[in-house]
Amino acid sequence: MYRTHTCGELRLADANKTVTLSGWVQKIRKMGKMSFVDLRDRYGITQLVFDEEHGAELCERANKLGREYVIQVTGTVAERSAKNPNIPTGDIEIIASELNILNQSIVPPFTIEDNTDGGDDLRMKYRYLDLRRNAVRKNLELRHKMAFEVRSYLDKLGFLEVETPVLVNSTPEGARDFVVPSRMNPGQFYALPQSPQTLKQLLMVSGFDRYFQIVKCFRDEDLRADRQPEFTQIDCEMSFVEQEDVLQIFEGMAKHLFKTIRGVEFDGPFRRMTWHDAMKYYGSDKPDLRFGMEFVELMDVLKGFGFSVFDNAAYIGGICAKGAAHYTRKQLDQLTEFVKRPQVGAKGLVYARIEADGNVKSSVDKFYTQETLQAMKAAFNAEPGDLILILSGDDAMKTRKQLCELRLEMGNQLGLRDKDKFACLWVIDFPLFEWNEEDQRYYAMHHPFTSPKPEDIPLLDTDPGKVRANAYDMVINGVEVGGGSIRIHDSQLQDKMFKLLGFTEERAQEQFGFLMNAFKYGAPPHGGLAYGLDRWVSIFAGLDSIRDCIAFPKNNSGRDVMLDAPSVLEPGQLEELNIKVDLKEN
Ligand code: AMO
Repeated sequence: MYRTHTCGELRLADANKTVTLSGWVQKIRKMGKMSFVDLRDRYGITQLVFDEEHGAELCERANKLGREYVIQVTGTVAERSAKNPNIPTGDIEIIASELNILNQSIVPPFTIEDNTDGGDDLRMKYRYLDLRRNAVRKNLELRHKMAFEVRSYLDKLGFLEVETPVLVNSTPEGARDFVVPSRMNPGQFYALPQSPQTLKQLLMVSGFDRYFQIVKCFRDEDLRADRQPEFTQIDCEMSFVEQEDVLQIFEGMAKHLFKTIRGVEFDGPFRRMTWHDAMKYYGSDKPDLRFGMEFVELMDVLKGFGFSVFDNAAYIGGICAKGAAHYTRKQLDQLTEFVKRPQVGAKGLVYARIEADGNVKSSVDKFYTQETLQAMKAAFNAEPGDLILILSGDDAMKTRKQLCELRLEMGNQLGLRDKDKFACLWVIDFPLFEWNEEDQRYYAMHHPFTSPKPEDIPLLDTDPGKVRANAYDMVINGVEVGGGSIRIHDSQLQDKMFKLLGFTEERAQEQFGFLMNAFKYGAPPHGGLAYGLDRWVSIFAGLDSIRDCIAFPKNNSGRDVMLDAPSVLEPGQLEELNIKVDLKEN
């Protein structure tokens, strides 16, 4: 038997027991005639004591142990004289009587401790060592628990987990596909699913009226902190449901996760906001509602007073940072630099302080009377000590997005984005289409299978840009953690959608014929949603990036630096696949 207990298990009540532990050597300290070893496994750390008085040879062998050696130790549990209150096993130690080296280790490239000396790249290259660290390991434990609770919640409600294939055709979720060549079908490629969207809809046609799957999805898109090229969805679909049914079930799941994993309970239902209001008041379809600072439009208040920047603007709007009038000139200059960064793209920033006597002091005082500035103050309900920050621009949508960045930055600077506070929100009534200026055509905002709101269907013929969809996203703390919609189940309406999206009949048939055909055999009304598991875990773990809740993630260039993937293929493999690589310059 390699072990009787784990390294996180023994307590004072176990004193005098003879035990055997196995694990990794984290640290060795020699003090006089005694040597202390911290033995680690995934359950914790237990202190071992090797005492010359109990055996010089044993002690000598212990002194030769290196970091990360795998050892097996037998000994007696004893009460520690110097207790360590920071670890659960801190009251005891093991007086070792036997030592068995199970495997040696070369010196690890970084210390396997909470505060490691290893940089990001090094830890990624040796991810298997990084995963021995508490900080990373506990994220994977959390991930497991969350997936387990998801299954438990859905199983109780009659959802069935069905696996769908990974070698499929392209699914139009708006990103590029990863493709896989087929040896048996020369010149043809599978695509890895961006989501099991069409397959889950087919399962509805098959009568599996409550489906779910915890499933890998693949998207070849630019990576960010909350995006990986392969990520995991909690993908769900239901038949005979309306939007309200779907929202209830998945709000229930969210609450179940918050309660069982974080011990957080919410009073009442989650807030709901239309996409239109989210854009108007927060400049984003995923507003962070841990704090207020809603936008106030100032076109009526500040236009037409000879300040050409505002006079020529299509949008003037601002936010009021409570109690931030103390911002110095230098801090305001830094904020101006912030909004001018290419990532934000504003031309400049106008600010106004509400002084103790209620007067408004602004950076554009020479254009405005105190009376106008007071009208502006009133529009914000601002009080002495507040700071008003204003942006303007010739494109309302762009300017709102810039103001959104400024709002989030102010939220950060004023400490309003506490990771232990959770603001959950449904964003509803998304537009069905998004107009693309460059291509001069509509794209589906969600995906082409999303149904329009029944009352907006007539607008499909007259003003498609105004059609609202039966689509919804769940947003937590400014992160889109999931999204879904009620689907079109009528093949004629689906045909019409494809036409509006610029598909010729042949192309629609070629790409989605299978789905439209299936819809001819009695497709039930259906809808669903997919949560992003990685994003859920990272929010619950308080992480800035989803990378650390994935065992083996990719870096920002989409590389797995540990496996050194992707890599070139052997010439023989390429030949077998009928593939000739012709790299373009650059
Ligand atoms: P959507 O494209 O909105 O919808 O994706 C659903 C959720 O998946 C997560 N997500 C990601 N997480 C990490 N890295 C990525 N690259 C990434 N892309 C998406 C997000 C997102 O909210 N088939 C539809 C769902 C449906 O309609 O039922 C879909 O995939 O949390």
